[in-house]
Amino acid sequence: MTQVLRSRAELRAALASVPRPVGLVPTMGWLHDGHRSLIRRARADNPTVVTTIFVNPRQFSQAQDFTKYPRNEVRDVAICADEGVDIVWAPPADEVYVPGFDTLVSVGAIALPLEGAARPGHFDGVATVVAILFGLVGAEHAYFGQKDAQQVMVIRRMARDLALPTEVITCPIVREPDGLALSSRNVHLSLAERAAAPVLRQALLAACRKWGAGERSGDALRATMRAALTAVPLAQPEYVSVADGLTLRELDRIDGPALLSVAVRFGSTRLIDNELLEA
Ligand code: PAF
Repeated sequence: MTQVLRSRAELRAALASVPRPVGLVPTMGWLHDGHRSLIRRARADNPTVVTTIFVNPRQFSQAQDFTKYPRNEVRDVAICADEGVDIVWAPPADEVYVPGFDTLVSVGAIALPLEGAARPGHFDGVATVVAILFGLVGAEHAYFGQKDAQQVMVIRRMARDLALPTEVITCPIVREPDGLALSSRNVHLSLAERAAAPVLRQALLAACRKWGAGERSGDALRATMRAALTAVPLAQPEYVSVADGLTLRELDRIDGPALLSVAVRFGSTRLIDNELLEA
């Protein structure tokens, strides 16, 4: 039976007697197959699974994006029940940010480029809420999707630097048959935008192919991705990146693990995707 809890006190009481280890899947709701895959991995690894549903206002730079973020708790809870989640924590904002809350968890260099540059304050909001969730749930394991590659790197750094005992586990990107990475934001695409959106994946794969054929110039791979994206009139590229897989510094030459990533706007909807290049 899936329990739906609202307060910190209820959550603590429920967690006091559950079998360990606990697997945590933090979400902002509007669950899709990508979330299901995280929950399934958590279910396979742990006798107790906790999913949190909280649209975190502190990680949106524009109030409008926060308001527009899709929500359907009834459906989300049904999905959690279907996947065998033990506890859904779906708190009101003041159970996460208690009255007088005045702390910011701010990760350094790894949080600055890419999404950090495009969305100022975003990773402070993510790191702060995830630190709270790690503290409240005290899970042994927490599961995040590779689609938000930089987010996982930021959370790993935060957990390591603050000596938080929760192990961060990254799960593969789940895609539609045409290659579009699943995202809660896909729902905002018009039919024409949805038809054009697989270009993110196509751009990344074109660069991967060049890399596979021996190309090691960062500029050449960035140009390949940009060319694929600009060929699609509805796609407005925000960034194309070929970055060091550990530091996220832009690379002139690829000599080790690298992260290819793109952010593209389709009208008012912003999509991201990435691919790891590993020897
Ligand atoms: O990836 C998300 O859904 C959110 O950034 C997270 C990790 C749940 C924090 O609000």
